[in-house]
Parts: sequence; C-alpha cells; structure tokens
Amino acid sequence: MLVLKKIDTIKLRDSIPFFQDIDQQLLDQLTPYMKEVSFSKGNVIFHEGDEGNQIFFIRIGMVSIYTSNKAKRITLAYLDQGEYFGEMALMQPGLFRSATAEAMTTVKAYALHRADFQQLVEKERNVSFLLLNYTMERLRKANQQIHDLTFLNVQHRIIRRLIDLCKEFGRSNADDTYKLTVKITHQQLADTVGAARETVSKVLIDLQDQQLIIFENKKLIVLQLKQLEQKIEGWYYPSQPIS
Ligand code: CMP
Repeated sequence: MLVLKKIDTIKLRDSIPFFQDIDQQLLDQLTPYMKEVSFSKGNVIFHEGDEGNQIFFIRIGMVSIYTSNKAKRITLAYLDQGEYFGEMALMQPGLFRSATAEAMTTVKAYALHRADFQQLVEKERNVSFLLLNYTMERLRKANQQIHDLTFLNVQHRIIRRLIDLCKEFGRSNADDTYKLTVKITHQQLADTVGAARETVSKVLIDLQDQQLIIFENKKLIVLQLKQLEQKIEGWYYPSQPIS
C-alpha cells in the first residue's frame, strides 16, 4: 500500500457522495487525519478475517469484495468510484473483516481510521443516516443474491447478473444497447453467480449466437436488453427498474 499526500475537501466532496453534505468545519477538522492511498490492479487491500481499523472511500477504480474457502470464491459486490468499504469491522474494536477486498483496476482511495470515523459519526447526524441507507441497499442486493442462488438455474443466474451489470456499470443507448464500462472476465462472472468458468463461457457463447450480446475490446455489450430480461421473466426478483 502506497501512502500519498493529504487531501483537500473540495476534491473529497466532488468524488465521494458520502461527504457532500458534511459540515465544512467538521470536514476541515477531519481531512488532516485522512490519507490518500493507492493500490495496483490485483492487490489485496485486506483479507477476510483480518482485524480491521480503516474505512476506504474509492476515488478512482473498482474493488471486488469476496468471501472464499480453499476451493471456491463468491463475489459479494463490485464497488465503484464514490463508494466505500471496510465500515463493518469499524463498528467495534476487535471485529474482523467480513470479506476480502481486492483492487480490480488501479485504485485510489481515501482511508480513515476507526477513531476519526467514529468522531465523524458522533458529530454529524447525517452520517448515521447515510450509513444506514447504504447498508439497506447492500442488504437488498444480498437478499437478491440469496434469492438467485436458491431459485434460479445457472443460465438464469448468469443472465440475471448481466442485466445487473448493465444497470450498475453500463452505458445505455437509445436502441436498448448497453455497453459495460468495465472489463469483467468469465472467471469473475462465474464468481458472482456460483458457477464454473466453463459454464459461464458456454452460456455467453449461446447468447452471442442468439445475437443478444457481443464483446468489443473484451468489454461486454448487451444488444437486446429487453429480450434478455424476457428470458428470465417470472424468475425476476423485484429490484430497481433500468432507467
Ligand atoms: P468489513 O467487514 O470491515 O470488510 C469487508 C467489507 O466488505 C465490509 O466491511 C463491507 O464494507 C464490504 N461488504 C461486506 N459484505 C458485503 C456485501 N454483501 N455487499 C457489499 N459490500 C460488502
């Protein structure tokens, strides 16, 4: 982990929604304790089971959050710029990391230690609400993941995940085409749906044959999102509509 320089509040507010409504005076007090850190692609930021005493706010890049045993890995979330992670182990001293965090790209983040973060939570009423709101959103997604792993077959799980990726990381065109702004490998996709990489490759080839998706520079483009949704109609767990 490379520690860079201290940061200014304007940059902080601009890049991290969490800080947008925090009182300026409080932010001025806090930023001297905040450090900008950077990680190379593939670096593990922390391991599941480590003792945790820092929260990270992503300024640039993407982080994968996963849990694993010796044989298998299941990805819980991909977190993008503006999001944060590592807050759960901060709630009490001695708590362990509930998952591993790994940089999927070059990542630049702001790091804050437990005591400084707790000060922020105590002094700014909005922060508890923001944390709660974000936690609810993660719980909703986790429920959806449990639903999918329990009720959907592997093909439906993969299609479902492609639709979700479009929502989270896709750029849409008027013609129902969604282009992912990030590269996701077959193995990474497999890790999010509890499938073997070979199975994911086979399903993706099927979808390409049906002209529902293509790959351009290893980035996925969904050509017919509505048709993809129709394939899992009836199995679809209610979540946010695609806007
Ligand atoms: P912590 O337990 O400190 O370290 C692992 C982090 O991963 C955790 O805090 C959360 O920030 C994040 N995390 C854990 N589970 C999930 C999940 N299901 N979805 C998104 N993020 C998670």
